[in-house]
Amino acid sequence: MIRNTTTSYGSIAKWVHWLMAFLILISYVSIYYLHWMLNDEGPLRSPIIQLHKGIGFSILLFVALRLYWRASNPDPKLPSSMPGWQVKAASMSHFILYFMLIVTPISGYLGNTSGVDYGLFHVASLSQVSIFTDMLGQFGLTYEEFEIPFDFFHYEIAGPLIFWMVIALHASAGLYHHFVEKDDVLKRMLPEKSD
Ligand code: HEM
Repeated sequence: MIRNTTTSYGSIAKWVHWLMAFLILISYVSIYYLHWMLNDEGPLRSPIIQLHKGIGFSILLFVALRLYWRASNPDPKLPSSMPGWQVKAASMSHFILYFMLIVTPISGYLGNTSGVDYGLFHVASLSQVSIFTDMLGQFGLTYEEFEIPFDFFHYEIAGPLIFWMVIALHASAGLYHHFVEKDDVLKRMLPEKSD
C-alpha cells in the first residue's frame, strides 16, 4: 500500500519517516564524533562537516516531500480512546517537530559560507550569491554579520537543545503508546508483516 489510509500509513510515508530518523541520527553522530572523539581537529574534520551539512540539507528536502505527502493523503486517525488533551498535545508536538525540522537545517545553511557539497553537485551558500550579498550591503551588513544569529541559533539552541528534545519526546510518545497503552499508534508506522 503506497498511500496512507485513515487507519494506517502507506509505504512512502513509512520510508520517508524512518529514512529521516536515520539521517537525523547520522547528523548528530557525525558532529559529536567530531567534537568528542576528534576534539574538532585532524584530517577528518572537513569530510565530517561536509557529511553533516549534506545530510542536514537532505533532511530539509525530505521534510518538504513529507509535508507534500501529508497534505495529499488521508491522515491516520488517533485512537478514539485517547483523551482530548493528549490529542491536542500530539498535534502541538507534531507542529513543533515540523517547525524544528525546517528551521534547524535552514539555520545551519544560512550560518555557513561554503555551501553544501554532494560530490556530484554543489549547493552554493547565500554568501556566494552576489544579488543576496548586494542586498545585504544596502542595509550596511556583511554576510559575516548577517550569519551571527543563525550560527548562534544552530550551534547553541536548536542543535544541542531543542531539536533533540523534540525528537526524544516524539520517540517516547511512540514507545508509550506501544508498551503502555498497547494501541496501534507506533505499529502503523512500522513495516507491514508479510504473513
Ligand atoms: C536537521 C538537521 C541538522 C541538525 C539536527 C543539526 C545539528 C547540529 C548540531 C547538534 C551541531 C553541534 C552544535 C554544537 O557544537 O554543540 C551542529 C553543528 C553544525 N552544523 Fe548542523 N545540524 C543540521 C543541519 C545542518 C545544515 C543543513 C548545515 C549546513 C548546510 C549545518 C551546518 C553545521 C555546522 C557548520 C556546524 C558546526 C561544525 C563545527 O563544529 O565546526 N547543519 N549541527
